[in-house]
Parts: sequence; C-alpha cells; structure tokens
Amino acid sequence: MAFKKNILCIGAGYVGGPTMAMIAYKCPQHKITVVDINPERIAQWNSDNLPIFEPGLDEIVRAVRGKNLFFSTEVEKSINAADIIFVSVNTPTKTFGVGAGMAADLQYWEKTARQIVKCSDSPKIIVEKSTLPVKTALAMERILISNKSDFHFDVLSNPEFLAEGTAINDLENPDRVLIGSRLTESGLKARNELVDIYANWVPEDQIITSDIWSSELSKLVANAFLAQRISSINAISALCEQTDADITNVARAVGVDSRIGNKFLNASVGFGGSCFKKDILNLVYICRHYGLNEVADYWESVIKINHYQKERFVTNMLGAMFNSLAGKKIALLGFAFKADTGDTRESPAIYIAERLVEERAELIISDPKAIDNAKTDLKHLNNKIKYIEDPYAATDECHAIAIMTEWDLYRTLDYQKIYNSMIKPCFIFDGRNVIEHKRLFEIGFNVYPIGKPAMTHFEHS
Ligand code: UDX
Ligand code: ADP
Repeated sequence: MAFKKNILCIGAGYVGGPTMAMIAYKCPQHKITVVDINPERIAQWNSDNLPIFEPGLDEIVRAVRGKNLFFSTEVEKSINAADIIFVSVNTPTKTFGVGAGMAADLQYWEKTARQIVKCSDSPKIIVEKSTLPVKTALAMERILISNKSDFHFDVLSNPEFLAEGTAINDLENPDRVLIGSRLTESGLKARNELVDIYANWVPEDQIITSDIWSSELSKLVANAFLAQRISSINAISALCEQTDADITNVARAVGVDSRIGNKFLNASVGFGGSCFKKDILNLVYICRHYGLNEVADYWESVIKINHYQKERFVTNMLGAMFNSLAGKKIALLGFAFKADTGDTRESPAIYIAERLVEERAELIISDPKAIDNAKTDLKHLNNKIKYIEDPYAATDECHAIAIMTEWDLYRTLDYQKIYNSMIKPCFIFDGRNVIEHKRLFEIGFNVYPIGKPAMTHFEHS
C-alpha cells in the first residue's frame, strides 16, 4: 500500500517511541519511521523486549510495527524521505560552561538540525517535540535557512504533555494537543497539516493552536505549575508533621475547592522525572537572562523545597533511628521516580540512597522495574549497595524500610511476615503514604509517614 505521508521521528526515547507508536496506530494511512543514533535502543524497539516499560505500549507497538511503524538507525536516509520530521532528542541540563546546571544543553538538538539540512532534497515540516527553551525554533529556523536556500522548512512547536506510567492513555485521550507555528501563510499551512494528523483521533476543539513562542513557553509553564503544586503540598507536609495535622485531610479539604482541584496534591518524598527540574531550571535561566530576578527566585524556590523535602526525609530517618545509621541495614522499596515506569531520571531515591550511604548505612535496593537503571545511577557506590528485586528477601534482617515509589505492590505486601524477619525495633518510613499506617503500627512497626504524626512504640520523653 502506498502511504500518504512519510513521517519521521528523530530520537527513540520515552517521548519519541510511545508518541510515534500512537500516531502509527491511529493513522494507518501514514508511514512512521523512528530513528536513533543508538543502535542498541533501536534493536530493542525491534524486539519483544522494548527499551522502556510503559503499560499498554507493548500491545500498540506489536499491532503496528512492520506495518506502518518502523524503527531504524538510518538517520540520514530517513530524513530525505520524510515529509514531516519530529525532533525528539534529549535536551538535558548543561553540565559545563555558561549556564551550567541551569540552561538546556542543545548540542544533540543542534546536531539534528544540521543533519536535517545536510540530508534534505525537498521541503519539510520540522516539529519540535523535545522540551526546549523559548525561542529555540528561531535558532532551528536559522540553521535550516542559512545552509540551503533551495528548500523551505517550516518549524512547528508541538510539546508533548504525556506523563510516564500513563503515557498510552495520555496520548490516546490528551487534555489538549498544542501546536505553535509562525503566523505566515506557509506556517499556517504547515500547522494545518499537523492538525490533520492529530484530528484522526483527537477532537478538534482539543487541538489548540498558537504562535510558536507561546507554545514553547506553555510547556515549561505547565510543568512548572505541576511541580509547584507538589512543592506546595510538600512544604505543608513539614508543618503537618510538627502540628499533628494530617496532610491527607488538608489536601482533601483544599482540593475540593473547584478553583484549586484535587489532583497532584499527594505529599511525597519529592518529585523526580526528567522534566520538572530541568524545565524549571530552564525557566529560571530565561528569567535571569531578561533580568527578571524576582520571577526567577520565585520559580527556583520550587526546586529548593523539593531538595529540602528529600533532605528532610533523611534527617527524619536519622533522628528516629537514634542519630546513627552506621552499619544499619536499610531497604529502599522502589527506586523509579514514580510507579508504573522503570525510569529513574532525577528520582528522589538517588539522592536518598547517596545520603544513606554517606551515613554508612548498608543499603538494599528493591524495585520491580528499575533495578538496572538504579545500578547505573549508583555505579559509583555499587560496592556498598545490594540489589534484590523480591521485597521479602530485600527486607530480611533489615533495621528499617523506606518506601520511595508508590508501586501498588507495596500496598499489599505481607507486612507481618516482613516484621517477623526484621531486626527490632523496626522502622518504616513511608515516602509515598501508600501503606496502612495504623495497621503496621499495630503489627509492631514504628511508622513515619509524610505529613502525618509518626506512630511509635517508644515512650515520649
Ligand atoms: C511530567 C508531566 O506530568 C507531563 O505532563 C510532562 O509531559 C512530563 O513531565 P512525568 O514526569 O512523567 O510527567 O510524571 P508526573 O506524573 O508528572 O510525576 C512527576 C513527579 O511528581 C513524580 O516523581 C511523582 O511521583 C511526583 N508527584 C506527582 C508527587 O510527588 N505528588 C503528586 O501529587 C504528583
Ligand atoms: P525523552 O525522555 O525526551 O524522550 P530520551 O533520552 O529518552 O529523552 O530519548 C532521546 C533519544 O534521542 C535517545 O535515545 C538518544 O540516543 C537520541 N538522540 C540524541 N541525539 C540524536 C541524534 N542526533 N540523532 C538521532 N537520535 C538522537
């Protein structure tokens, strides 16, 4: 069958892979190719063992791979054949030079732009999918135009709002699809081509169009607002622990106000993931660039509170366990930055593991999907850490448990059995408020939730 359009995605990561699988699934009339410079990753996408764990992804990939979805390492050849190119390469925070620790590192992204120019023999629509600083499209346009004037390139911004763990549902039923373009005749025409693709399954009133700069900025702002909600509730959790208030009750009472809403109010050990910190740092950097220091300070405080929450968790553990963790066995249940993903990027568990090792605890890390990533994140400490997937074996003869990820599995473990195998007094620190605190207290655990009074068997002095 002849396909109507050749769509290419450069970058087969957490965003590119699932997004293109969904487009292929919903648009059998188009051919979708996903390329990556990493041959191992492409081999995994072509195997039964996909490189990322995402509920529902396997089924969709299986349904379309080899029909209208193809994974390949042939970046240059695929560029030439494409009508529309999504760019979904990584844009980590810079680790060197000007803006280190703050600005986005655009080297992969710029290389891609140059490669597109080099390999193109026809006009193309270029779609920014990666989260990028505002005005990146301008730089993209400049690279595309300066090198070759024969062909016209239209650059669109189409930020992805999927969250890991729920990516398939987020892609299939998005709150909105956002497309930013130049408001020129050719920009609007390109925009409409992309609208037509999404309109195969997304109601048109949920496809929002705007100028390109607003689209780029909206992605940063959406993530900054989401992260701000978590830092807000986490800041209040510290106060709850001091005042015998219960963060769950506070969140419920606050969240029923329809102006506030009840989502994203779960106090936790801190937010992680590849986006929140990076995007806020980006926002902060841009604000400082324009001399908006008060605005920059305001958003930076969201990250500061997140750091404070992680450190507070460690100091709470230390305080509860008689100010010494040296030689004590502590099991971390969960290492992924959230449930239903194996992704550990910016996971709060990384910082907490490092701090606990610094306190000379003996660490055992358990997670149903993230052990391989944990080993990579903590390779500098691997002689000091054990990795055991089975939670019962991981907690055997431990002094304490710290829950890092809200995997459903941890709600239903046989905690009596775990208690029996642990060293007494037993401590459990629930960084996600997922266990039944009262029941565990009754079993004999000393229980330390987030934002709720601790339940201990010790006499109060
Ligand atoms: C986020 C945005 O939600 C998504 O729209 C964007 O495209 C990418 O960044 P993601 O990082 O995959 O998605 O997961 P998300 O569900 O937002 O969770 C981020 C972090 O916040 C996780 O560590 C999670 O555990 C934490 N979190 C979330 C809380 O601590 N409390 C909450 O109430 C919600
Ligand atoms: P995200 O979470 O944004 O999807 P990932 O790091 O999971 O980020 O994926 C980005 C992918 O982009 C990686 O697999 C990386 O190998 C790929 N990549 C980076 N630069 C290029 C490039 N120039 N050409 C093709 N793929 C690239």
